[in-house]
Amino acid sequence: MKLTIIGGGSTYTPELIDGFARLRAQLPLTEIHLVDPDPDRLRLVAGMAARMLARAGHPARVVGTSDLVAGVSDADAVLVQLRVGGQDARQADETWPHEAGCIGQETTGPGGLAKALRTVPVVLRIAEAVRRHAKPDAWIVDFTNPVGIVTRALLEHGHRAVGLCNVAIGFQRRFARLLDVGHDEVRLGHVGLNHLTWERSVSVGGRDRLPELIGGRLDELAEEVLLAPALVSQLGALPSYYLRYYYAHDEVLAEQLAEPTRAEAVRAIEHELLELYADPHVDTKPEALEGRGGAFYSEAAIELLAAMQGGDAVPRVVNLRNDGVLPFLPDDHVIEVPARYVDGRFVAEEVAALPDDFAGLVAAVAGYERLALDAAVHGGRDRVLRAMRAHPLVLQHERAERLTELLLAENARFLEWA
Ligand code: G6P
Ligand code: MN
Repeated sequence: MKLTIIGGGSTYTPELIDGFARLRAQLPLTEIHLVDPDPDRLRLVAGMAARMLARAGHPARVVGTSDLVAGVSDADAVLVQLRVGGQDARQADETWPHEAGCIGQETTGPGGLAKALRTVPVVLRIAEAVRRHAKPDAWIVDFTNPVGIVTRALLEHGHRAVGLCNVAIGFQRRFARLLDVGHDEVRLGHVGLNHLTWERSVSVGGRDRLPELIGGRLDELAEEVLLAPALVSQLGALPSYYLRYYYAHDEVLAEQLAEPTRAEAVRAIEHELLELYADPHVDTKPEALEGRGGAFYSEAAIELLAAMQGGDAVPRVVNLRNDGVLPFLPDDHVIEVPARYVDGRFVAEEVAALPDDFAGLVAAVAGYERLALDAAVHGGRDRVLRAMRAHPLVLQHERAERLTELLLAENARFLEWA
């Protein structure tokens, strides 16, 4: 099986390789092609990947290339994990919104809109190459943020795509440890949009253990998602830590104004990682990778790819078309819920009706996401302004105008139409 990783020069790639090596029985890879525009990164990361596989006795060959067509040709699956503009663009997303009193974050709020505008056209171009040159039944697995918007862009353009994020698998692994059961036994009642989700149940052997967890380990759980215990307790559900940008917006903003950005922290980690990847004696996943936010993302990818290669039909949390699962959203919206892979497609599990507060927020953010995709595909200041104002963290017209100015000034070089 040939797997192609777009953005393969990412310092995250050895996380994936580590999973391929550990779980090789699940996924029979023979070729791993890393595609990246940066030849220096590619050389370091491909070298590191090859050493890790050799050490594990994994037979797959690693190829690094900046040639997209060569990289995707005859691929069985394509994983997309790119970041347009690198950490510099992220640093901007995390800071300019402050000038209008908004949090700066790379997927949520004004920074997320900037990232969507930069990213969607690039991913769509890559997907066209996949359509033309990969195997006809090849899947695109999208890790590229903002995952909900990017996945919808791919589906709207007729690509065979599914979106993936590690938030759900992180919760599954965490709950399994707390309950002292195998992670395969844990099924999540995970619902929402990418980076806007709640765990509403944690079932083990058909019994929901979430009430017991919220009852007995409330402080611990609330602390992990950086939210107030009283909030978690009243919701009776565990929000992902991305909900903090809504439920604790002003607190996050104050913290951000006083602290270095995540982009700066990640730059330091990447620097350390690249030095290790350059060392011919290093052939195992460095500990420094734990400092990144991608815990379990290799396992999420491998479980999914294995299921898509004819493996089991266990429900796993993915980003896919709504098709009535959340009846208050359009069918073509992309939601994040558990789904099974059956007969070549993902089929979402049923979801109990959402309480009004969850549904209201999901509907508002979905409205924003639709306008953001429209702006990303068709361009134009008016569309950007409209999407900006629709985001529930923005809403005020004057603020949206100011944020639009800032976004365009910071991102003009990435936007063909600007
Ligand atoms: C989590 C999110 C990803 C995001 C990552 C950021 O894993 O699910 O979507 O890209 O965090 O991690 P970083 O180390 O780049 O801050
Ligand atoms: Mn994610």
